[in-house]
Amino acid sequence: MTRPRVVLVGPPGSGKTTVSALLAAALGVDVRDTDADVEATAGRPITEIFVDDGEDAFRDLERAAVAAALAEHDGVLALGGGAVLDAGTRAKLAEHTVVYLEVSLTSAAPRVGLDRSRPLLLGNPRAQWKKLMDARRPLYEEVAAISVSTDSKSPDDVAAEILAAL
Ligand code: S3P
Repeated sequence: MTRPRVVLVGPPGSGKTTVSALLAAALGVDVRDTDADVEATAGRPITEIFVDDGEDAFRDLERAAVAAALAEHDGVLALGGGAVLDAGTRAKLAEHTVVYLEVSLTSAAPRVGLDRSRPLLLGNPRAQWKKLMDARRPLYEEVAAISVSTDSKSPDDVAAEILAAL
């Protein structure tokens, strides 16, 4: 049975995409990102899916993309920030080595740019971030065996910390 060596979870701006590429290179395996999988399946950017079809439609695509990646991929896997909201996904993650990349809004904001590509943080970013993290922090902590703070650290340092903890 194939399975991801490591699965990264965490909010937007925690560095999942960058760190997953560094981890994959260090481990000599492929990297996969469920946001990219959703966009490839839908043939549209995530922003457009949110605007045209709504968040629920995006979550359905994401749930299917995560299930496929967990079943098929044997490298490093980065999940979209909201993938853990799904109880079925969380149950599947119990069988995998999951790393939670923790980040503060102060560190995440410059990374994500708070533009249209992150629809959930539009409006009042600080209020939206608090709401998002109050709901999700327990879910990230539930699925992850390893938690790494990414504040004030380079992606290389974060990747090295994860490799040491695996
Ligand atoms: C989302 C995070 C995004 C993307 C979508 C929804 C979220 O992925 O899946 O915009 O709910 O946090 P990143 O975490 O890679 O930014």
